Amino acid sequence: MAHLGACPASTPSRRYNGGVEASPLRRHRRLRRTEPLRALIRETSLSTRQLVYPLFVEEGLSGRRPIPSMPGQDRLGLDALAAEARDLRNLQIPAVLLFGLPRDKDDRGSAAWDREGVVQQATRRLKDANPDLLVVGDVCLCEYTSHGHCGLIRPDGGVDNDATLPLLAETSVSLAQAGCDVIAPSDMMDGRVGAIRAALDVAGFAELPILSYAAKFASAFYGPFREAAESTPQFGDRHGYQMDPANARMALDEVLTDIDEGADMVMVKPALPYLDVIRQVRDAVQVPVAAYNVSGEYSMLMAAVQNGWLDEARAVNETLTCIRRAGADIVITYHAKQWAARR
Ligand code: PBG
Repeated sequence: MAHLGACPASTPSRRYNGGVEASPLRRHRRLRRTEPLRALIRETSLSTRQLVYPLFVEEGLSGRRPIPSMPGQDRLGLDALAAEARDLRNLQIPAVLLFGLPRDKDDRGSAAWDREGVVQQATRRLKDANPDLLVVGDVCLCEYTSHGHCGLIRPDGGVDNDATLPLLAETSVSLAQAGCDVIAPSDMMDGRVGAIRAALDVAGFAELPILSYAAKFASAFYGPFREAAESTPQFGDRHGYQMDPANARMALDEVLTDIDEGADMVMVKPALPYLDVIRQVRDAVQVPVAAYNVSGEYSMLMAAVQNGWLDEARAVNETLTCIRRAGADIVITYHAKQWAARR
């Protein structure tokens, strides 16, 4: 066919100056010549205002205790929170995501909705020290149940989805009463967004937004978190309620269902192996999309940094920028403080 192979009609427009190829590559080189030029045409930007910093608060702990599998991250005692809140203000980090380590666990996870629970107390302390800090309350039972599952366990050993919903709703209301600005259910029970929305509305919190962990995959990358939060299941696994990493269509379906039930923002978690899912979700919905750069993603990068194999500043900036490029409006990351400190 005439348009295949050498095509005399199109050749002249591809050449200039006596036969030097005017390939697109050359145009790109010109635009990459200096940093001001590169900055002028940069498509994706990352700003501290888009970051959420996860915090582990341990009941009964005084001060801070390093988390061995997450170099640079600590568990905090309640008495360490005021200083932390001031630190975050100085770094201009707008939001924290709170996880609690209660002193006592039981088979129902009742410390999760205790008015004097560790996250409820932590929320009040953080807000006292820094009223502008957005406190996002993670809602799940796995840190509070003796068996480590995210819901109630039936006698046959399975998770009782529907019986768990009122407990998640009660936890959400108690976090709202403590002063949380956003409620973030991470349990992956079906129907929990609707149940939480209804309970918040009845309790007078109709204006409190829900950030749903909508596409949360059953991931190996939560390993360090489970050590940090002491939330490893004592039997079985979470494959029944968290998503199969192989499924993107199902992730979209979960996202749409959560929005239908009243989610104001949705999350994809983890981030790095799921950048395609972030992009698909961003293209499919009109609500803000958050991505959770989880513990295992943090730990593997930091392990390489500690070995001298990666440059921390560059690797972190690239990681977070690329999560934004994939379509995340909000990035939840343990790197937040280090990244913000280098601005
Ligand atoms: C609780 C929860 C988990 C994470 C956030 N909320 C762990 C899990 O599902 O086992 C993981 C966060 C991380 O790895 O950084 N359900």
